[in-house]
Amino acid sequence: MAAPLRFDGRVVLVTGAGGGLGRAYALAFAERGASVVVNDLGGDMKGVGKGSSAADKVVEEIRRKGGKAVANYDSVEAGEKLVKTALDAFGRIDVVINNAGILRDRSFSRISDEDWDIIHRVHLRGSFLVTRAAWDHMKKQKFGRIIMTSSASGIYGNFGQANYSAAKLGLLGLSNTLAVEGSKNNIHCNTIAPTAGSRLTQNILPGDLLDALKPEYVSPLVLWLCHESCEENGGLFEVGAGWIGKLRWERTLGAIARQKNQPMTPEAVKANWMKICDFDDASKPKTIQESMSGLVEVLSEINANGRVSTNNTSHTATAATSGFTGAIGYKFPPFFATYSELEAIMYALGVGASVKEPKDLKFIYEGSSDFSPLPTFGVIIAQSCLMGGGLAEIPGLSVNLAKILHGEQYLELYKPLPRSGKLKCEAVVADILDKGSGLVILLDVYAYSDKDLVCYNQFSLFLVGAGGVGGKRTSDKAKASAAIPSRPPDAVVTDTTSLNQAALYRLSGDWNPLHIDPNFASMAGFDKPILHGLCTFGFSARHVLQRFADNDVSRFKAIKVRFSKPVYPGQTLQTEMWKEGNRIHFQTKNLETGDIVIANAYVDLVSSSGTAAQAPTEDGKLQSTFIFEEIGRRLKNMGLDVVKKVNAVFEWHITKGGNTAAKWTIDLKNGSGKVYRGPAEGSADTTFILSDEDFMEVVLGKLDPQKAFFSGRLKAKGNIMLSQKLQLILKDHAKL
Ligand code: NAI
Repeated sequence: MAAPLRFDGRVVLVTGAGGGLGRAYALAFAERGASVVVNDLGGDMKGVGKGSSAADKVVEEIRRKGGKAVANYDSVEAGEKLVKTALDAFGRIDVVINNAGILRDRSFSRISDEDWDIIHRVHLRGSFLVTRAAWDHMKKQKFGRIIMTSSASGIYGNFGQANYSAAKLGLLGLSNTLAVEGSKNNIHCNTIAPTAGSRLTQNILPGDLLDALKPEYVSPLVLWLCHESCEENGGLFEVGAGWIGKLRWERTLGAIARQKNQPMTPEAVKANWMKICDFDDASKPKTIQESMSGLVEVLSEINANGRVSTNNTSHTATAATSGFTGAIGYKFPPFFATYSELEAIMYALGVGASVKEPKDLKFIYEGSSDFSPLPTFGVIIAQSCLMGGGLAEIPGLSVNLAKILHGEQYLELYKPLPRSGKLKCEAVVADILDKGSGLVILLDVYAYSDKDLVCYNQFSLFLVGAGGVGGKRTSDKAKASAAIPSRPPDAVVTDTTSLNQAALYRLSGDWNPLHIDPNFASMAGFDKPILHGLCTFGFSARHVLQRFADNDVSRFKAIKVRFSKPVYPGQTLQTEMWKEGNRIHFQTKNLETGDIVIANAYVDLVSSSGTAAQAPTEDGKLQSTFIFEEIGRRLKNMGLDVVKKVNAVFEWHITKGGNTAAKWTIDLKNGSGKVYRGPAEGSADTTFILSDEDFMEVVLGKLDPQKAFFSGRLKAKGNIMLSQKLQLILKDHAKL
């Protein structure tokens, strides 16, 4: 059996404890070891008169049973005096049960000022005064438990009780805020709406019920809520007859009734009324932050869409349940990322490169002989597809931009980034995973300089609250993170971020106000603006490059990180690193909090002898490269003939280790035909995706392309019939 809940050493003040529910609480607390102040003014149920006998009787009853109790006969309106009684008699105050109450029932138009005021003075103001008198003592001792007594008539309304209902629900508001303010000092405040037979209900409840609904069926909840082991805070409970239920707020998904840059009209409200009042899939906001963040989402949705939402504005992203057809494989319109030395330097400063470190000069001074962007500048090249609201355009997926978390990041470089450049970027939704609590979008972004693939990024974006739609949980497209070794780290670098770190980092293009605007950050539930996850990522990668590659950017191959906790500007980052061959595992800690902020991460380096750490995907190592080059050479000799015969453009995505390592186009449609690296300049008639190894097998005649297609080793999109003609070309002209 569970250990009994005891209150030895605790001092409990119960107001209105001379009868009814208060008496039951006082007896129960005393029976379990508490010292109890039994307060009661001793008037009638309308608040007229006073006397000491009600409180005295209960004190006697407690003492008779061996318990500790003292009486107090003040009105709760003299809150300080009640608490003083506790301090004088027992030296402390741990628990306050605001229970005293009276009734002045009248239909609304007959309520006098006096009826209104006295109800508010006893219930609401009395609870305020008693609790305020105890508050600082509770804060100092870092413990306090408070109960507010509300009523079903406040929650639901009740004929003839307008004054009482208003005061009783006022107590819930008071409790809600005390729960927020008290939690950091272990002061919990909860509210009950009891039903029990007492003198207050004797004229309301039928006789049988009056006897059956014993106060002893309410007091156990009050005791539990006030026990030191109870974590509940800010709860509201209906309780009676031995039954207890918890209440919470529910909010419809609602509707946006406003267009960007347009006045809002009552007609738009009317048009959306059904949706505004539709409780299907309603949300249950628990905090004011959750409630407010809904509004932040609305603002971003209106700004992003610029139109009235005809769909629900769920305040979370909603996903089509159709397996995300249309979304997976969706290609963003290609875009160009242009940068000069200025952007590269700004980024390096944003991730902490400094003149303090002489070897950093090459990242921040364009006049250095070996000037180069940091390898992780590759994420900046790719990120602009996310910044313009492009995610909202993905078909079959309703993405709420304010509910996106950056979960993980992978970056692979195929060659060091040029010191300045104009890179063509192609972004594609590689896959969508359903993690229950949210969806993960795997967004692959390829950046090309002319036809050369320079870098590849995979953003894992977590859409909070959008999951649970029955999608798959894993994907072979996802770049996996890797657990860190269990031994102590081989190297540790610490770096203190500056208070301006996020202000500086955002100049590289992530303008999210979460990182600079205190109001926005507080609406999102943070104490102050947080650092960009990718800024911490840049710090850590710099540390790895510094310690294990002597800042040689040509040795950087790839990086994978998982973002696990936020960092505030000004906090200190500690990167812990482990060398395992050419892979440097790492994790990054926030030294102030001890939190791991980047987990299960690694950097793959190219060994100083030039061998890549992992499966090489450098284009130079692809066997298919030689074939395409050879086909190109031969095509020059064949010219128009073949172009006429085939009349099609074929695009190839050659993969290595699951990643697209190169793209090639065989254009047998335009001019006299040509073969070149990179995606088709116009549009391709057919696109083939297969591994470098399978490509070789097909060319060498060892793998039948049809079989490869049906077994999934070769994927083809577009006009698949045209591939027949291509087979001829490969067979006749590759011949290697
Ligand atoms: P009760 O009348 O038996 O107990 C209330 C006690 O508060 C009385 O002993 C009274 O003398 C005392 N009191 C009144 N004004 C006071 C003041 N200014 N200072 C100090 N003590 C004062 O009534 P019951 O039913 O035990 O009510 C307890 C609390 O529960 C009240 O706040 C009431 O509004 C609330 N409540 C009770 C329900 C029920 O079904 N019994 C339903 C909903 C709420």
